Amino acid sequence: MDPKEIDFYSLGFNFIETKTMYIADHKDGEWSDGQLVPFSNFEISPAACVLNYGQGIFEGMKALRTKDGDITLFRPEENARRLNKSASRMLMPNYDIELFIKALKQVVKANEDFIPPYDSGGALYIRPLMIGNGPILGVKPALEYKLIIYTVPVGPYFPEGFRGIDLEMSTIYTRAAPGGTGSAKTCSNYAGSMLPVKETKSRGFSQIIFLDAVNREYIEEVGTANFFAVIDGVLITPKTSGTILPGITRKSILELGNKKLGMVTEERDISYKEIFEGSCTETFCAGTAAVITPIKSVVLEDKKRIFSDGEPGEMTRKLYELLTGIQRMDIEDEFGWIVKV
Ligand code: PLP
Ligand code: COI
Repeated sequence: MDPKEIDFYSLGFNFIETKTMYIADHKDGEWSDGQLVPFSNFEISPAACVLNYGQGIFEGMKALRTKDGDITLFRPEENARRLNKSASRMLMPNYDIELFIKALKQVVKANEDFIPPYDSGGALYIRPLMIGNGPILGVKPALEYKLIIYTVPVGPYFPEGFRGIDLEMSTIYTRAAPGGTGSAKTCSNYAGSMLPVKETKSRGFSQIIFLDAVNREYIEEVGTANFFAVIDGVLITPKTSGTILPGITRKSILELGNKKLGMVTEERDISYKEIFEGSCTETFCAGTAAVITPIKSVVLEDKKRIFSDGEPGEMTRKLYELLTGIQRMDIEDEFGWIVKV
């Protein structure tokens, strides 16, 4: 698409084709030199491991335009490390961290005209994707892999934005079980969440909150973001014990809450019951796409907890201002999180 035809001020979170993508191929135990190529379809064997057995992983990150016109990435080495962890879990090859960051910078620069302006609040979403594209018949890892990095200009993931979202806890579906692939960013985790999310949305909610698969009691995460609660003034998020995605936004928020707001932070099991008690004063979800999105209400069967009528809680707002301020370089980056392109 011609970037001049894009209204950057009314973007949602939808696919728009940009100019250039990055591709590297893995064969005979080695990655080829990565290349920038025009965004296009590519050939894949019908017997590709990713198509038949779901051997695919991805990442999600954003390039932002600052007030001064710079382009920033947020903690890209964390995404590189998580990509490699996901790869190892799915028996896929790792990718060199330095090369990955270099590739991100190249692909963002090549698609610079698609980066939404600072005042639009939008971002250039970056999607690194690794697939087992070699043909295979038995259930075994592919012999060939492809790393693709493409970009899409995006606005808010939730159209409700900072007014907050209504969520439903699922008593029927779970996302991941201990010993499974919940902590890897593998494509199949998302495929499995589509039906639960569709049903939740048909009842008027924005997203689902998954509970743990063993006890059906402890909060895991929201469909596409991590979960946070402020309980008795303490900033709490479910611990990462293998069934949730260890979010980079999550990790950053814990640090901001503790170091910048002086909050006590805890990573622990959160029973759904705690969310319906008065001591829980704020909840929000956090992720690259979701940024920090306040949760307005939570429903579990006949129980309903309303947190606000559209005004985010005080801590949620402060954390949002800090996080987005650092990401857009409006606030000094004392943590060294920002990488300029
Ligand atoms: N949990 C799930 C299931 C996600 O898809 C995401 C988004 O990537 C997150 C959590 C948040 O992770 P991050 O903050 O690294 O984007
Ligand atoms: C992200 O926040 O980057 C995600 O991956 C969420 C979703 C778009 C899959």
